[in-house]
Amino acid sequence: MLEGGRQSMDPDRRLASAPRRRLVQALLGGGFLATAVACIYPVLRYLIPPKTSDLGGDTVVAGRVGELKPNTGKIFRFGNRPGLLVRTPSGEYRAMSATCTHLSCTVQYRDDLHQVWCACHNGLYALDGRNVSGPPPRPLENFEVQVKGEEIFARRRRDA
Ligand code: FES
Repeated sequence: MLEGGRQSMDPDRRLASAPRRRLVQALLGGGFLATAVACIYPVLRYLIPPKTSDLGGDTVVAGRVGELKPNTGKIFRFGNRPGLLVRTPSGEYRAMSATCTHLSCTVQYRDDLHQVWCACHNGLYALDGRNVSGPPPRPLENFEVQVKGEEIFARRRRDA
């Protein structure tokens, strides 16, 4: 039907298209919102760092009781550096920096040697952090270990 040179819509059709229009508007609005969230979320994650187990810089939660079997080790975060928590064959906990003093590779516990090993140049450390053999020039920083409840804390030594 033509009115005044323009095509007009049947009132029944206009009423029927209103829900469709609302659906299209809702989909467009949802798409815009999803795009905005996808853009803003990474920026917020960058600006707001994730919660860490760092307790004031000198103490961190290195692990949980029962997490390590005897004669095993695990890497934990000590600030922005790796730390190494070791459970000795006799069940004691030891903690130290996991950054090799030679060229800063990350060390690991060797259950066959009962020592800390750097795979980069075959450096070896004792479980108190002393450099034993290979190129490492200095000991690893040794942390105090405290077990409180279910958590194992590694603390930077004050005398170091
Ligand atoms: S980096 Fe560890 S021994 Fe060279």
